[in-house]
Amino acid sequence: MPARHEQHGYSQALRAACYLKERLPQFPRVGIVLGSGLGALVSHLSDPVSIPYSRIPHFPRTAVEGHAGRLHLGRWKDLPVAMLAGRVHLYEGYAPAEVVFPVRVLGLAGVQTVILTCAAGGIAPAADVGRLMVFSDHLNFIGSSPLAGPHDKRWGEQFVDMSQAYDTRLRRAAMKAAGSLALKCFEGVYAAMPGPQYETPAEIRALKRLGADAVGMSTVPEVIASRQLNMHVLAIALISNRAAGLARQPLRHGEVLAAGMRGSEDLARLLDRILPGLGG
Ligand code: HPA
Repeated sequence: MPARHEQHGYSQALRAACYLKERLPQFPRVGIVLGSGLGALVSHLSDPVSIPYSRIPHFPRTAVEGHAGRLHLGRWKDLPVAMLAGRVHLYEGYAPAEVVFPVRVLGLAGVQTVILTCAAGGIAPAADVGRLMVFSDHLNFIGSSPLAGPHDKRWGEQFVDMSQAYDTRLRRAAMKAAGSLALKCFEGVYAAMPGPQYETPAEIRALKRLGADAVGMSTVPEVIASRQLNMHVLAIALISNRAAGLARQPLRHGEVLAAGMRGSEDLARLLDRILPGLGG
């Protein structure tokens, strides 16, 4: 039995990437990771081929029955894309290397640009429910890194530069597209918390003082792993609720999912505009 960090290491990822490339030798160069409540975006793909995670070697098994993770390969506005629907989280008990395994496999299969999406709680005044936030930067309070452990050089550097984690060109393209579509969209800093409990009002006040505009429990590990592989990263959060203490009612996961469903059309319109520009 390999050590825990080796169960989702480079050779396993290579095996998974080979499996995918056998099915689709011209693998897409763009990958999209769907966050909570954003699964409807899959319907924008034409000619999709959908592969359950359980068929892909070493992919994480998603915990929730009936919500099996799937990788969808198809075309969005004629651009070939690989879409991961079914993210796994550290708070579910997955190891950091498992959480980032799917995005790493996409990187090894040929993806060069990854668009990560998520739901998030709004902290900044601009971060109102239903708005989109393009990540300008992040605060990692998750307490772990997918790069921790023995360094395998095949992934890239150990001490990865995070000073420009979010690709400037992609951020600009996203903000320009949002402007031309009159979408309510702003750029901001995402704070990643371990969860699964939502934050306390005191934690949100502290995050605000530290410069966070929105808060969530995902995305950052994938950003770190993607940057190690030198992929270009764009991350977009849909603000699904005001963060703890900033709204009268208590936070509920159902509310987060419902807001995701309502907001996914805005996100789809934004991607409609951005994706054709990523073909070159
Ligand atoms: N906090 C943390 N994660 C979240 C939130 C929140 O308020 N909303 C959606 N994901």
